[in-house]
Amino acid sequence: MNQYSLADAMTDKGNVTVPKLSESNMGFGVLGVFLGLLLEVSTHGPHGVPRTSWRHQDLDLMEFSEPGIFNYSTLLLSEKRDALYVGARDAIFELSKKNVTVRNNKVEWTVEDTLIQMCTLKGKSRERDCLNYIRVLQVVDDERLYVCGTHAFLPQCDYLNLADFSLKGQPEDGRGKCSFDPSQSFTTVMVDGELYSGTAYNFLGSEPIISRYSPHHSLLRTEYSTSWLNEPSFVFADVIREGSNKADGEDDKIYYFFTEVSVEYEFFGKLLIPRVARVCKGDLGGQRTLQKKWTSFLKAKLVCSMPELNFVFNVVHDVFILKRADWRDTVIYGVFTSQWGNVGLSAVCAYNMTAVEDVFSKGKYMQKVTVEQSHTKWVRYNGITPSPRPGTCINSLMRQQNISSSLHLPDKTLQFVKDHPLLEDPVLPISNGPRLIAKDVNYTQIVVERVRALNGNTYDIIFTGTDKGVLHKSVVFEGEVHIVEEIQLLKNSEPIKNLLLSSETHCLYAGSDSGVVQSPTAFCGRYPSCVDCVLARDPYCAWDHQTAACVNIFDARSHRLSRLIQSLDGDADKCPSGPGLPLKDYQRMTVKPGSSVELPCLVQSNLAQIMWKFNRSALTEASRFHLIGENGLLIYSVAPEDQGRYECWSVEWAPAAGKNFSRLLAGYVLTLDLPPRPPHQAGRVSHTLGSQEAASTHAAEGNGKADRAPLTSAYTPPSFTALVLFTSSPQTDSSLTPPLSNTIKYQPSTSAPRPDNGDPAAEYLQHNNSTALLFLFLLFFLLFLAAMAYNCYMQYLPAPCLRLRAALLGNHKSAHQPEYRACEAGLVEASATDRINMTEQPTQNDSQTIQSLRALRDTGYETEPEYANGQILSHSLGDESPSQQKPFDVDCESQSIQFADADEPYC
Ligand SMILES: *[C@@H]1O[C@H](CO)[C@@H](O)[C@H](O)[C@H]1NC(C)=O
Ligand SMILES: *[C@@H]1O[C@H](CO)[C@@H](O)[C@H](O)[C@H]1NC(C)=O
Ligand SMILES: *[C@@H]1O[C@H](CO)[C@@H](O)[C@H](O)[C@H]1NC(C)=O
Ligand SMILES: *[C@@H]1O[C@H](CO)[C@@H](O)[C@H](O)[C@H]1NC(C)=O
Ligand SMILES: *[C@@H]1O[C@H](CO)[C@@H](O)[C@H](O)[C@H]1NC(C)=O
Ligand SMILES: *[C@@H]1O[C@H](CO)[C@@H](O)[C@H](O)[C@H]1NC(C)=O
Repeated sequence: MNQYSLADAMTDKGNVTVPKLSESNMGFGVLGVFLGLLLEVSTHGPHGVPRTSWRHQDLDLMEFSEPGIFNYSTLLLSEKRDALYVGARDAIFELSKKNVTVRNNKVEWTVEDTLIQMCTLKGKSRERDCLNYIRVLQVVDDERLYVCGTHAFLPQCDYLNLADFSLKGQPEDGRGKCSFDPSQSFTTVMVDGELYSGTAYNFLGSEPIISRYSPHHSLLRTEYSTSWLNEPSFVFADVIREGSNKADGEDDKIYYFFTEVSVEYEFFGKLLIPRVARVCKGDLGGQRTLQKKWTSFLKAKLVCSMPELNFVFNVVHDVFILKRADWRDTVIYGVFTSQWGNVGLSAVCAYNMTAVEDVFSKGKYMQKVTVEQSHTKWVRYNGITPSPRPGTCINSLMRQQNISSSLHLPDKTLQFVKDHPLLEDPVLPISNGPRLIAKDVNYTQIVVERVRALNGNTYDIIFTGTDKGVLHKSVVFEGEVHIVEEIQLLKNSEPIKNLLLSSETHCLYAGSDSGVVQSPTAFCGRYPSCVDCVLARDPYCAWDHQTAACVNIFDARSHRLSRLIQSLDGDADKCPSGPGLPLKDYQRMTVKPGSSVELPCLVQSNLAQIMWKFNRSALTEASRFHLIGENGLLIYSVAPEDQGRYECWSVEWAPAAGKNFSRLLAGYVLTLDLPPRPPHQAGRVSHTLGSQEAASTHAAEGNGKADRAPLTSAYTPPSFTALVLFTSSPQTDSSLTPPLSNTIKYQPSTSAPRPDNGDPAAEYLQHNNSTALLFLFLLFFLLFLAAMAYNCYMQYLPAPCLRLRAALLGNHKSAHQPEYRACEAGLVEASATDRINMTEQPTQNDSQTIQSLRALRDTGYETEPEYANGQILSHSLGDESPSQQKPFDVDCESQSIQFADADEPYC
């Protein structure tokens, strides 16, 4: 179907019309969307680049795993007991919250052989499925946890005694509390001793259920109906308490988040829709209608889209609720991708709890109507809604009318909510668009922490985990998102399955199939200078100029805050303008003439550009200089004129401050270890002089990939004229974001140590595109000539060419001609039939009845053209994407990693 009308329908509030199915302009619509994306991505390229990338091996994170045990996917933090409980496969662990490498307790919970046999008889795999995946870990009280496992496709629950860390050994039926299938999505939350879950109720996983298990009441559940739940994928559930100011005497509510197959939009195949649903804690079911079913179940659509591009993120993967004392201040964060996952975009949308509440308490209902005999459609319900309003929690007003519980609700209200669980009004995100869009990542998990920075403002720090084991940390500053850093949390490239945050210890805990990792929320100690510390724009970090260190403001609370420097717009001018690097601190390098020397320079920022200076003027094009590895400089065949001062400068643009900041990263003084005999190579000297002249023209070539190979190979023959690369491409792993590689102008900042060079023009690096363009043009021209010649030779071209060919070759090849003709005829025929097929397709559809569309849906018409289109386009997108440059492949073993011994804040 047409992506535009889909997007419109999904974002438009007031319109009930079901999106029209028209295939004729589908291709264009989809193409438009993807072209739009390409444009968006290219114009906003620098956005969404994490400033700093931390590799796993550089960080010394605390990790836990036990040999032979996998799937550490269920985590529970207990602030009270100072513990992290981990549910894995066949085992539960208690780890120290301060240091997850410390295992305090372990209990194994395996499946009896008879059950495993039954499970394998049902066609499940003994190694993968017929084990006990611990999926539920919830606090019952101070002494006990409630735990459930898939238990070889026969879910069971038990109590875990925390005093001796043992299971009670009286397993309860876990159906409806835990999924049968370990790979199936599900969610649970324990509220006041009652377990709320969203999962499948049967072995096949085909009966979805949102239910409540309570020791006091009987089981309460959803109707088994596609209008209530239609193939949902549950991601999250949590309670929102009314808080102390229950003005209208309302109940606490439990919100569920899931993606399901839409009933309200018609689509080839399955159109997924992210939803928020809610139930009331005090619900007891109805008296006659909806007996032992929710009387308060309502659901609405969550919108996360880029309206300007008509792009919809329609799959929610995880939700985090940033709770506040008053529920009105609560914010819901969700991570989304598109159903067409190959687009490679992830988004974070935030929702105002007030907006959610408004939809549930005031929104219009949708209603199923039958059109054209058997076909049903969902449209807005415009009739009179019964009173009390269907789906609302019991409140003071209802109590006044003698309705003190859901058992007293009138049948009219109950029947209505049973038939109309879906609200028409969608929940729109704050500022009507995503908070954050990231390219080439699939976010799987999200946690958010609200942090008060030194300026007194609060910022929501968004931590998102990807399917490649990477964590992104972002902050929204004045409406603009800044990705502070990315951290390779997991050793292997595998999904982060669970992510928790302890605001008490300021630590993150990530669970994956292979283990548990603990990480601090900030790496302030790794920023070596004030400028670095400020440019990081990390609300956790500030520069302490007394101790000359970048410190975590939460560790430093006891310090004098007044001497800390923090500027979240990245205005590094606030830093004291130090004396810079005194000449005596420059590293001295003494080398033999003719040998080569390597000057390392470590750049931490992916947003910075690197510039090398020699004797205070920018190093530019010269045959013997190569940028290597992480921006180090390699000079081979050192000559006497190469003696002098070398400096590695980083230039970084801080968009929020509107300034460029430059700083000296490394300085060297190169001297020759001159032997007593005279220099032996006269020609060599003149060559170098030539290149010095070239340098004084101040032009630098910025060329991309072509130069990569020579950079990594250590030596190149002296005759080879290489271009100096001014890319900042530090460390990388294929999964971490590669840095920008544009060459930028160098602008000295007022605070940074000023170079005392009198010639300002010497400080410019410029893209010299013309040579490259000319080269490209020549290349294409040559290719064109070659193609011409070939086609002419093969007789694919008309008369003049053939005559020329005949003149050159004689006529001996004419025997092949009939063969070619026949082939050509076949080609024409084939394309004609193709064309007929293509023109038939749209008309076919216009007259088609909905039933046949349904049939299409059932026969799995899921490889829609959208999908194919997206694939092709995303390939070309991928080719251009910098992530494919695999910057981490660069060998940097020889580089000493600075600051490796900076003390990590242990949490
Ligand atoms: C459990 O972990 C194994 C090993 O990493 C992995 O192959 C499997 O997919 C995981 N299973 C589930 C259900 O997560
Ligand atoms: C949510 O909306 C309410 C009412 O419109 C407003 O007062 C509140 O500030 C909003 N909260 C956030 C976090 O945007
Ligand atoms: C509620 O019940 C009380 C006592 O049963 C009765 O006196 C009162 O009239 C009822 N109120 C309404 C509005 O039905
Ligand atoms: C994201 O996930 C989709 C679907 O699983 C996959 O096709 C795609 O390659 C992933 N993209 C990235 C950048 O990992
Ligand atoms: C660079 O400076 C050093 C002294 O600092 C001087 O000896 C050398 O000749 C200079 N080199 C050039 C090429 O200017
Ligand atoms: C900062 O550097 C960029 C890139 O070279 C340049 O375009 C811009 O004009 C500079 N801005 C300022 C304010 O110096």
